[in-house]
Amino acid sequence: MSLALTRKAQRKNFGDFQTPPALVSAILDVLAGFAEPPSRVLEPTCGIGRFIAGILDRDQVPAEILGLEIQAEHAAIARSIVDPTGPTRVQITMADLFGVDLRHDLNWSSSGPLLVVGNLPWVTTAGLGATGGQNGPARTNHRRHRGIDALTGESNFDISEAIWIKLIRELADERPTIALLCKTAVARTILGSIARDKLPIIRASLWKIDAKRWFSAAVDACLFRVEVGGGRQATTAEVFSDLAATLPESILGLGDGPIIANQASYNRVAFADGECPLQWRQGIKHDASAIMELIQSPDGSLRNRLGQVVEVEPEYVYPLEKGTDLAGSRRERPLLGVIVTQTRLGDDTADLERRAPRLWAYLQQHREVFTGRKSSIYRGRPPFAMFGVGDYTFAPFKVGISGLHKKPRFRRLDPVAGRPKLLDDTCYFLPCGTEEQAELLVQVLNGPVVLSLLDSLIFPDSKRPVTKKLLQRINLFAILSEAGLADRWQPHWGQEWSVRPARPKRI
Ligand SMILES: C[S@@+](CC[C@H](N)C(=O)[O-])C[C@H]1O[C@@H](n2cnc3c(N)ncnc32)[C@H](O)[C@@H]1O
Repeated sequence: MSLALTRKAQRKNFGDFQTPPALVSAILDVLAGFAEPPSRVLEPTCGIGRFIAGILDRDQVPAEILGLEIQAEHAAIARSIVDPTGPTRVQITMADLFGVDLRHDLNWSSSGPLLVVGNLPWVTTAGLGATGGQNGPARTNHRRHRGIDALTGESNFDISEAIWIKLIRELADERPTIALLCKTAVARTILGSIARDKLPIIRASLWKIDAKRWFSAAVDACLFRVEVGGGRQATTAEVFSDLAATLPESILGLGDGPIIANQASYNRVAFADGECPLQWRQGIKHDASAIMELIQSPDGSLRNRLGQVVEVEPEYVYPLEKGTDLAGSRRERPLLGVIVTQTRLGDDTADLERRAPRLWAYLQQHREVFTGRKSSIYRGRPPFAMFGVGDYTFAPFKVGISGLHKKPRFRRLDPVAGRPKLLDDTCYFLPCGTEEQAELLVQVLNGPVVLSLLDSLIFPDSKRPVTKKLLQRINLFAILSEAGLADRWQPHWGQEWSVRPARPKRI
């Protein structure tokens, strides 16, 4: 039993999914369509040697292949498939890739064109933490995240992301072609950092892979191929629907900012891409929905998610909408409410005992739910603290959108019985002072320009297709001006246009 667990944990730590030979063969066919066979091949995490076997099986074989693998048993199997009398010099080394300097430590005997090929470990630093494992680069803050992003887990990254960067940087002088299976999200991160981090990539292509079929893995994966060189950096990347496709299904745009999912449709509405003059806000976050979210029964009483009747001071309970409500995919459901313990970030909650004794007693009764909240953002905060609270939370009208749904749809949120509606933390919103403001915004945001812009920027397979960063790019001023509606603008929930309107972009 414990051995089985250990093996499972091993597999997790090393992201161990050996590539089926049929997939290896299809990948090598695609790569052969690009260039003459390479004379040198590096398989950086070669496992039991499936790619090495596939390469040795082809009509034209390279002069030499180097393989690295961290697990001794795998490396031994990989060695056993190699014919030492064959025409290719093959060397398999048991090593942790992160301990190898690819500039100096590789024992090449020739210097021809280099192909780096294989399938990288499928594991994130968070996944490693869960199994208590160790793998990956030295623990620096890999993407140099700071503050709240690092706290909330944005700094969690895929080991393969670090491997990609290592391969590109350390092998840059060799101008290799690098073609590796990896998560699509990893490929996108690398594409997004070409301009920002000045990666010497001159061409990039991506083929979608059915990871469920090949690896029984519920993840979006791809073959990601880049040419590393000294020429002009790639500004686009082709995306193929599968390994057999001959024409790309879309072209990604790579610029200074985040990558563009569909460059052609983006070009038509590029004028609307800029800086939103209003600030988008995220809904309320408490990580205690069992206690904080309430459901109204037909008799008007409120129950928490544990089914317990909750009787607290009503002024601390607000009507709540969730992402599914905004996306329009939820049928009729009972009214929801949310308990709000603070009106501003960091408010002291101690005087709730005096101001709202019933609420205080209820919170105390469920204290362990709050003290057990895992996220480190609550550390050092007052008891029962929340995030996403401020003046804007209590704006009477709002225009909101779900962050989790791939088809963007904006909804106007009107107060219920004089109480502003609040949103949960899967949603974003613009606070509005009046119904007219909210109506103008919802019409503009659900109009063809904004929807086309978002459509060209959204990656539907992302965990959170709509983000605050994305919404903050909608240049409302440019859109209203283009439609001749700029004069309809009114000072807005305490915010004038908060930035000098950016000049609309033209292509
Ligand atoms: C997804 S599997 C793919 C194996 C092989 N490339 C293939 O395509 O069949 C990833 C491999 O990376 C190896 N690995 C994980 N971390 C490594 C590291 N730090 N250095 C070298 N190899 C590593 C694992 O043991 C595993 O064999």
